[in-house]
Amino acid sequence: MPVTIAVILFTITTTSFCSGVRRSSMTDLDRLATALRNAETAVALTGAGISAPSGVPTFRGDDGVWDHFDEGQFTYGRFQSDPAGFWADRLALHRAMFDGEYEPNVGHEALAALEREGYLDAICTQNTDGLHTAAAASIDTGAGEGTADPRRADEGPTILELHGNARRVRCTDCGARTTAEPIFDRVSDGERPPTCDCGGIYKPDVVLFGEELPGAVIQRARSLALESDVFLAIGSSLVVEPAASLPRLAASSGATVGIVNLEATPCDGIADVACRDDIVEALPRLRDRIETQ
Ligand code: APR
Repeated sequence: MPVTIAVILFTITTTSFCSGVRRSSMTDLDRLATALRNAETAVALTGAGISAPSGVPTFRGDDGVWDHFDEGQFTYGRFQSDPAGFWADRLALHRAMFDGEYEPNVGHEALAALEREGYLDAICTQNTDGLHTAAAASIDTGAGEGTADPRRADEGPTILELHGNARRVRCTDCGARTTAEPIFDRVSDGERPPTCDCGGIYKPDVVLFGEELPGAVIQRARSLALESDVFLAIGSSLVVEPAASLPRLAASSGATVGIVNLEATPCDGIADVACRDDIVEALPRLRDRIETQ
């Protein structure tokens, strides 16, 4: 069945884990560390919050991008009916979000190291900034500090970009992909919509609201959630489907669910541990706890 991306309406269920903002205790992180050490399969789902410390703005929460842009203008329907107008608005959004050189932060690095060390099997991300891949690459080239798990020596990291990658565009006719920045420059120079050599219209290589996620990608993410013994949701408001359902799917099959986010989420009620922590503090600490337990 096709799965389109959409925002859900929600109410937050109050539990002992989300009764007001609080800092996670060491016990919370110890619990997650123990669960990760013992897990056969562990999966992380990340959202915009993990890239916020790198300088990429979030969509919601304090001064989020959707406070400044109308998210209704960035739908697949708008792209199809008014590609020129869509691209004009997309240029402004792209410049607001990615106007600079962004580097992975200690949160991306901690997850990449956990993956490399064999404590994490996959990172499913809603982010389109490519920073998880950059963090993994820095570990593989020795810039990071991860110690490789011999079981993983021949494997690349498993990073599922659920919503695509904003650093690329894709031709809607021939399917050719190319780097986004030169295309945005052409849009800035007045080419709206920008077109491929074949004549087809380029589209940002991301999943727009109302657009279907690639079937194989969401299927894989769901299988990973169902298989997982530990499922971590990190830096996401968990209000956009289908990603928002992954923690519930994992919980339904018995996984220990951990959430790390500054604000409450609609999934806090089903989480075993909900840490209202800054990622830059919590993730390196979690990794330390795993190493020292
Ligand atoms: N540490 C922990 N949490 C943080 C931090 C931080 N340093 N900074 C921000 N956060 C939290 C915010 O409190 C917020 O709840 O990250 C969350 C980010 O939520 P969103 O902006 O809604 O991002 P995300 O869940 O990834 O959005 C999903 O919505 O419009 C879209 O397609 C877009 O992929 C995106 C989807």
